[in-house]
Amino acid sequence: MIKKAVIPAAGYGTRFLPATKTIPKELFPIIDTPTIQYIVEEAIAAGIEEILIITSANKNSIIDYFDRNIELEVQLSAKNRQEELKIVKDVANLATIHFVRQKEQLGLGHAILQAETFVGKEPFAVLLGDDLFVGKIPAIKELVLAYNEVKSSVIGTMKVKKEETGRYGICEPKKEIRTGFYELKGVVEKPQPKEAPSQSAIAGRYLLTPEIFTLLRNQEKGVNNEIQLTDSILKLMEYQAVYSYDLKAKRYDIGSRVGYFEALIDFAIKRDDLKEEIIQILKNKIKDL
Ligand code: UTP
Repeated sequence: MIKKAVIPAAGYGTRFLPATKTIPKELFPIIDTPTIQYIVEEAIAAGIEEILIITSANKNSIIDYFDRNIELEVQLSAKNRQEELKIVKDVANLATIHFVRQKEQLGLGHAILQAETFVGKEPFAVLLGDDLFVGKIPAIKELVLAYNEVKSSVIGTMKVKKEETGRYGICEPKKEIRTGFYELKGVVEKPQPKEAPSQSAIAGRYLLTPEIFTLLRNQEKGVNNEIQLTDSILKLMEYQAVYSYDLKAKRYDIGSRVGYFEALIDFAIKRDDLKEEIIQILKNKIKDL
């Protein structure tokens, strides 16, 4: 049983400056609901009971978001706005959420290392705070199910175009378990298309065994002068089998402008209260192009 999840949300989000100077990208609203709330809900839907969010000095608004806001509740209650009151209260009761600060933004690997005490000696889930997934089965549940089969670390992946490999960690398969599910030989961080061992890219969801922490503790800096999770996963393969699993859920990279915009459109046209108006606006815009 996978009971614990870690959501790293301490990065600078430089691709989204100037907004991320004060607004964490993990709180960017998809219409009206912050990205990280969807991610917390994804973890809960996969049976996760406890969540640790990694934050940083400038991201206290993430902690506030999952707390109660008594002043607002009193105001809504006084105006008898029961529906909004419920929405506000429900957020604070979503799950058992813990927070820890990553004191220096030394990379994703270093962010995960901050979760060592919380995780202990159990396998655990990692959901990147700026990667949103939508699917019939929650993305992290796909990995929980894959983990239950192989009882070893599983990395969530997605197929990318050859010319895009330089933007992702790319997996090198060793053995096919079945279509889209592989035991891995290696992972390469951001390879040029010519050097890429496959088009299977790491996609912001991981199921990891706790042995990763020993490797992260001793991990030297890698690409971008950051402590890379990918480098420690590569070392983990020397001791244990590591698998990749092609996620069926669709991914939106909220940390990128295009990914965020696509999520806004897709979510809006799926909502009964917005669908008609938004589709009409989009049609008119396209007509005017
Ligand atoms: P990204 O690779 O998107 O990095 O992190 P970033 O620094 O936040 O963003 P850019 O590239 O400068 O725009 C993936 C996830 O890991 C977290 C981020 O908050 C994001 O959710 N992260 C990254 C940390 O928690 N700590 C870090 O040191 C780096």
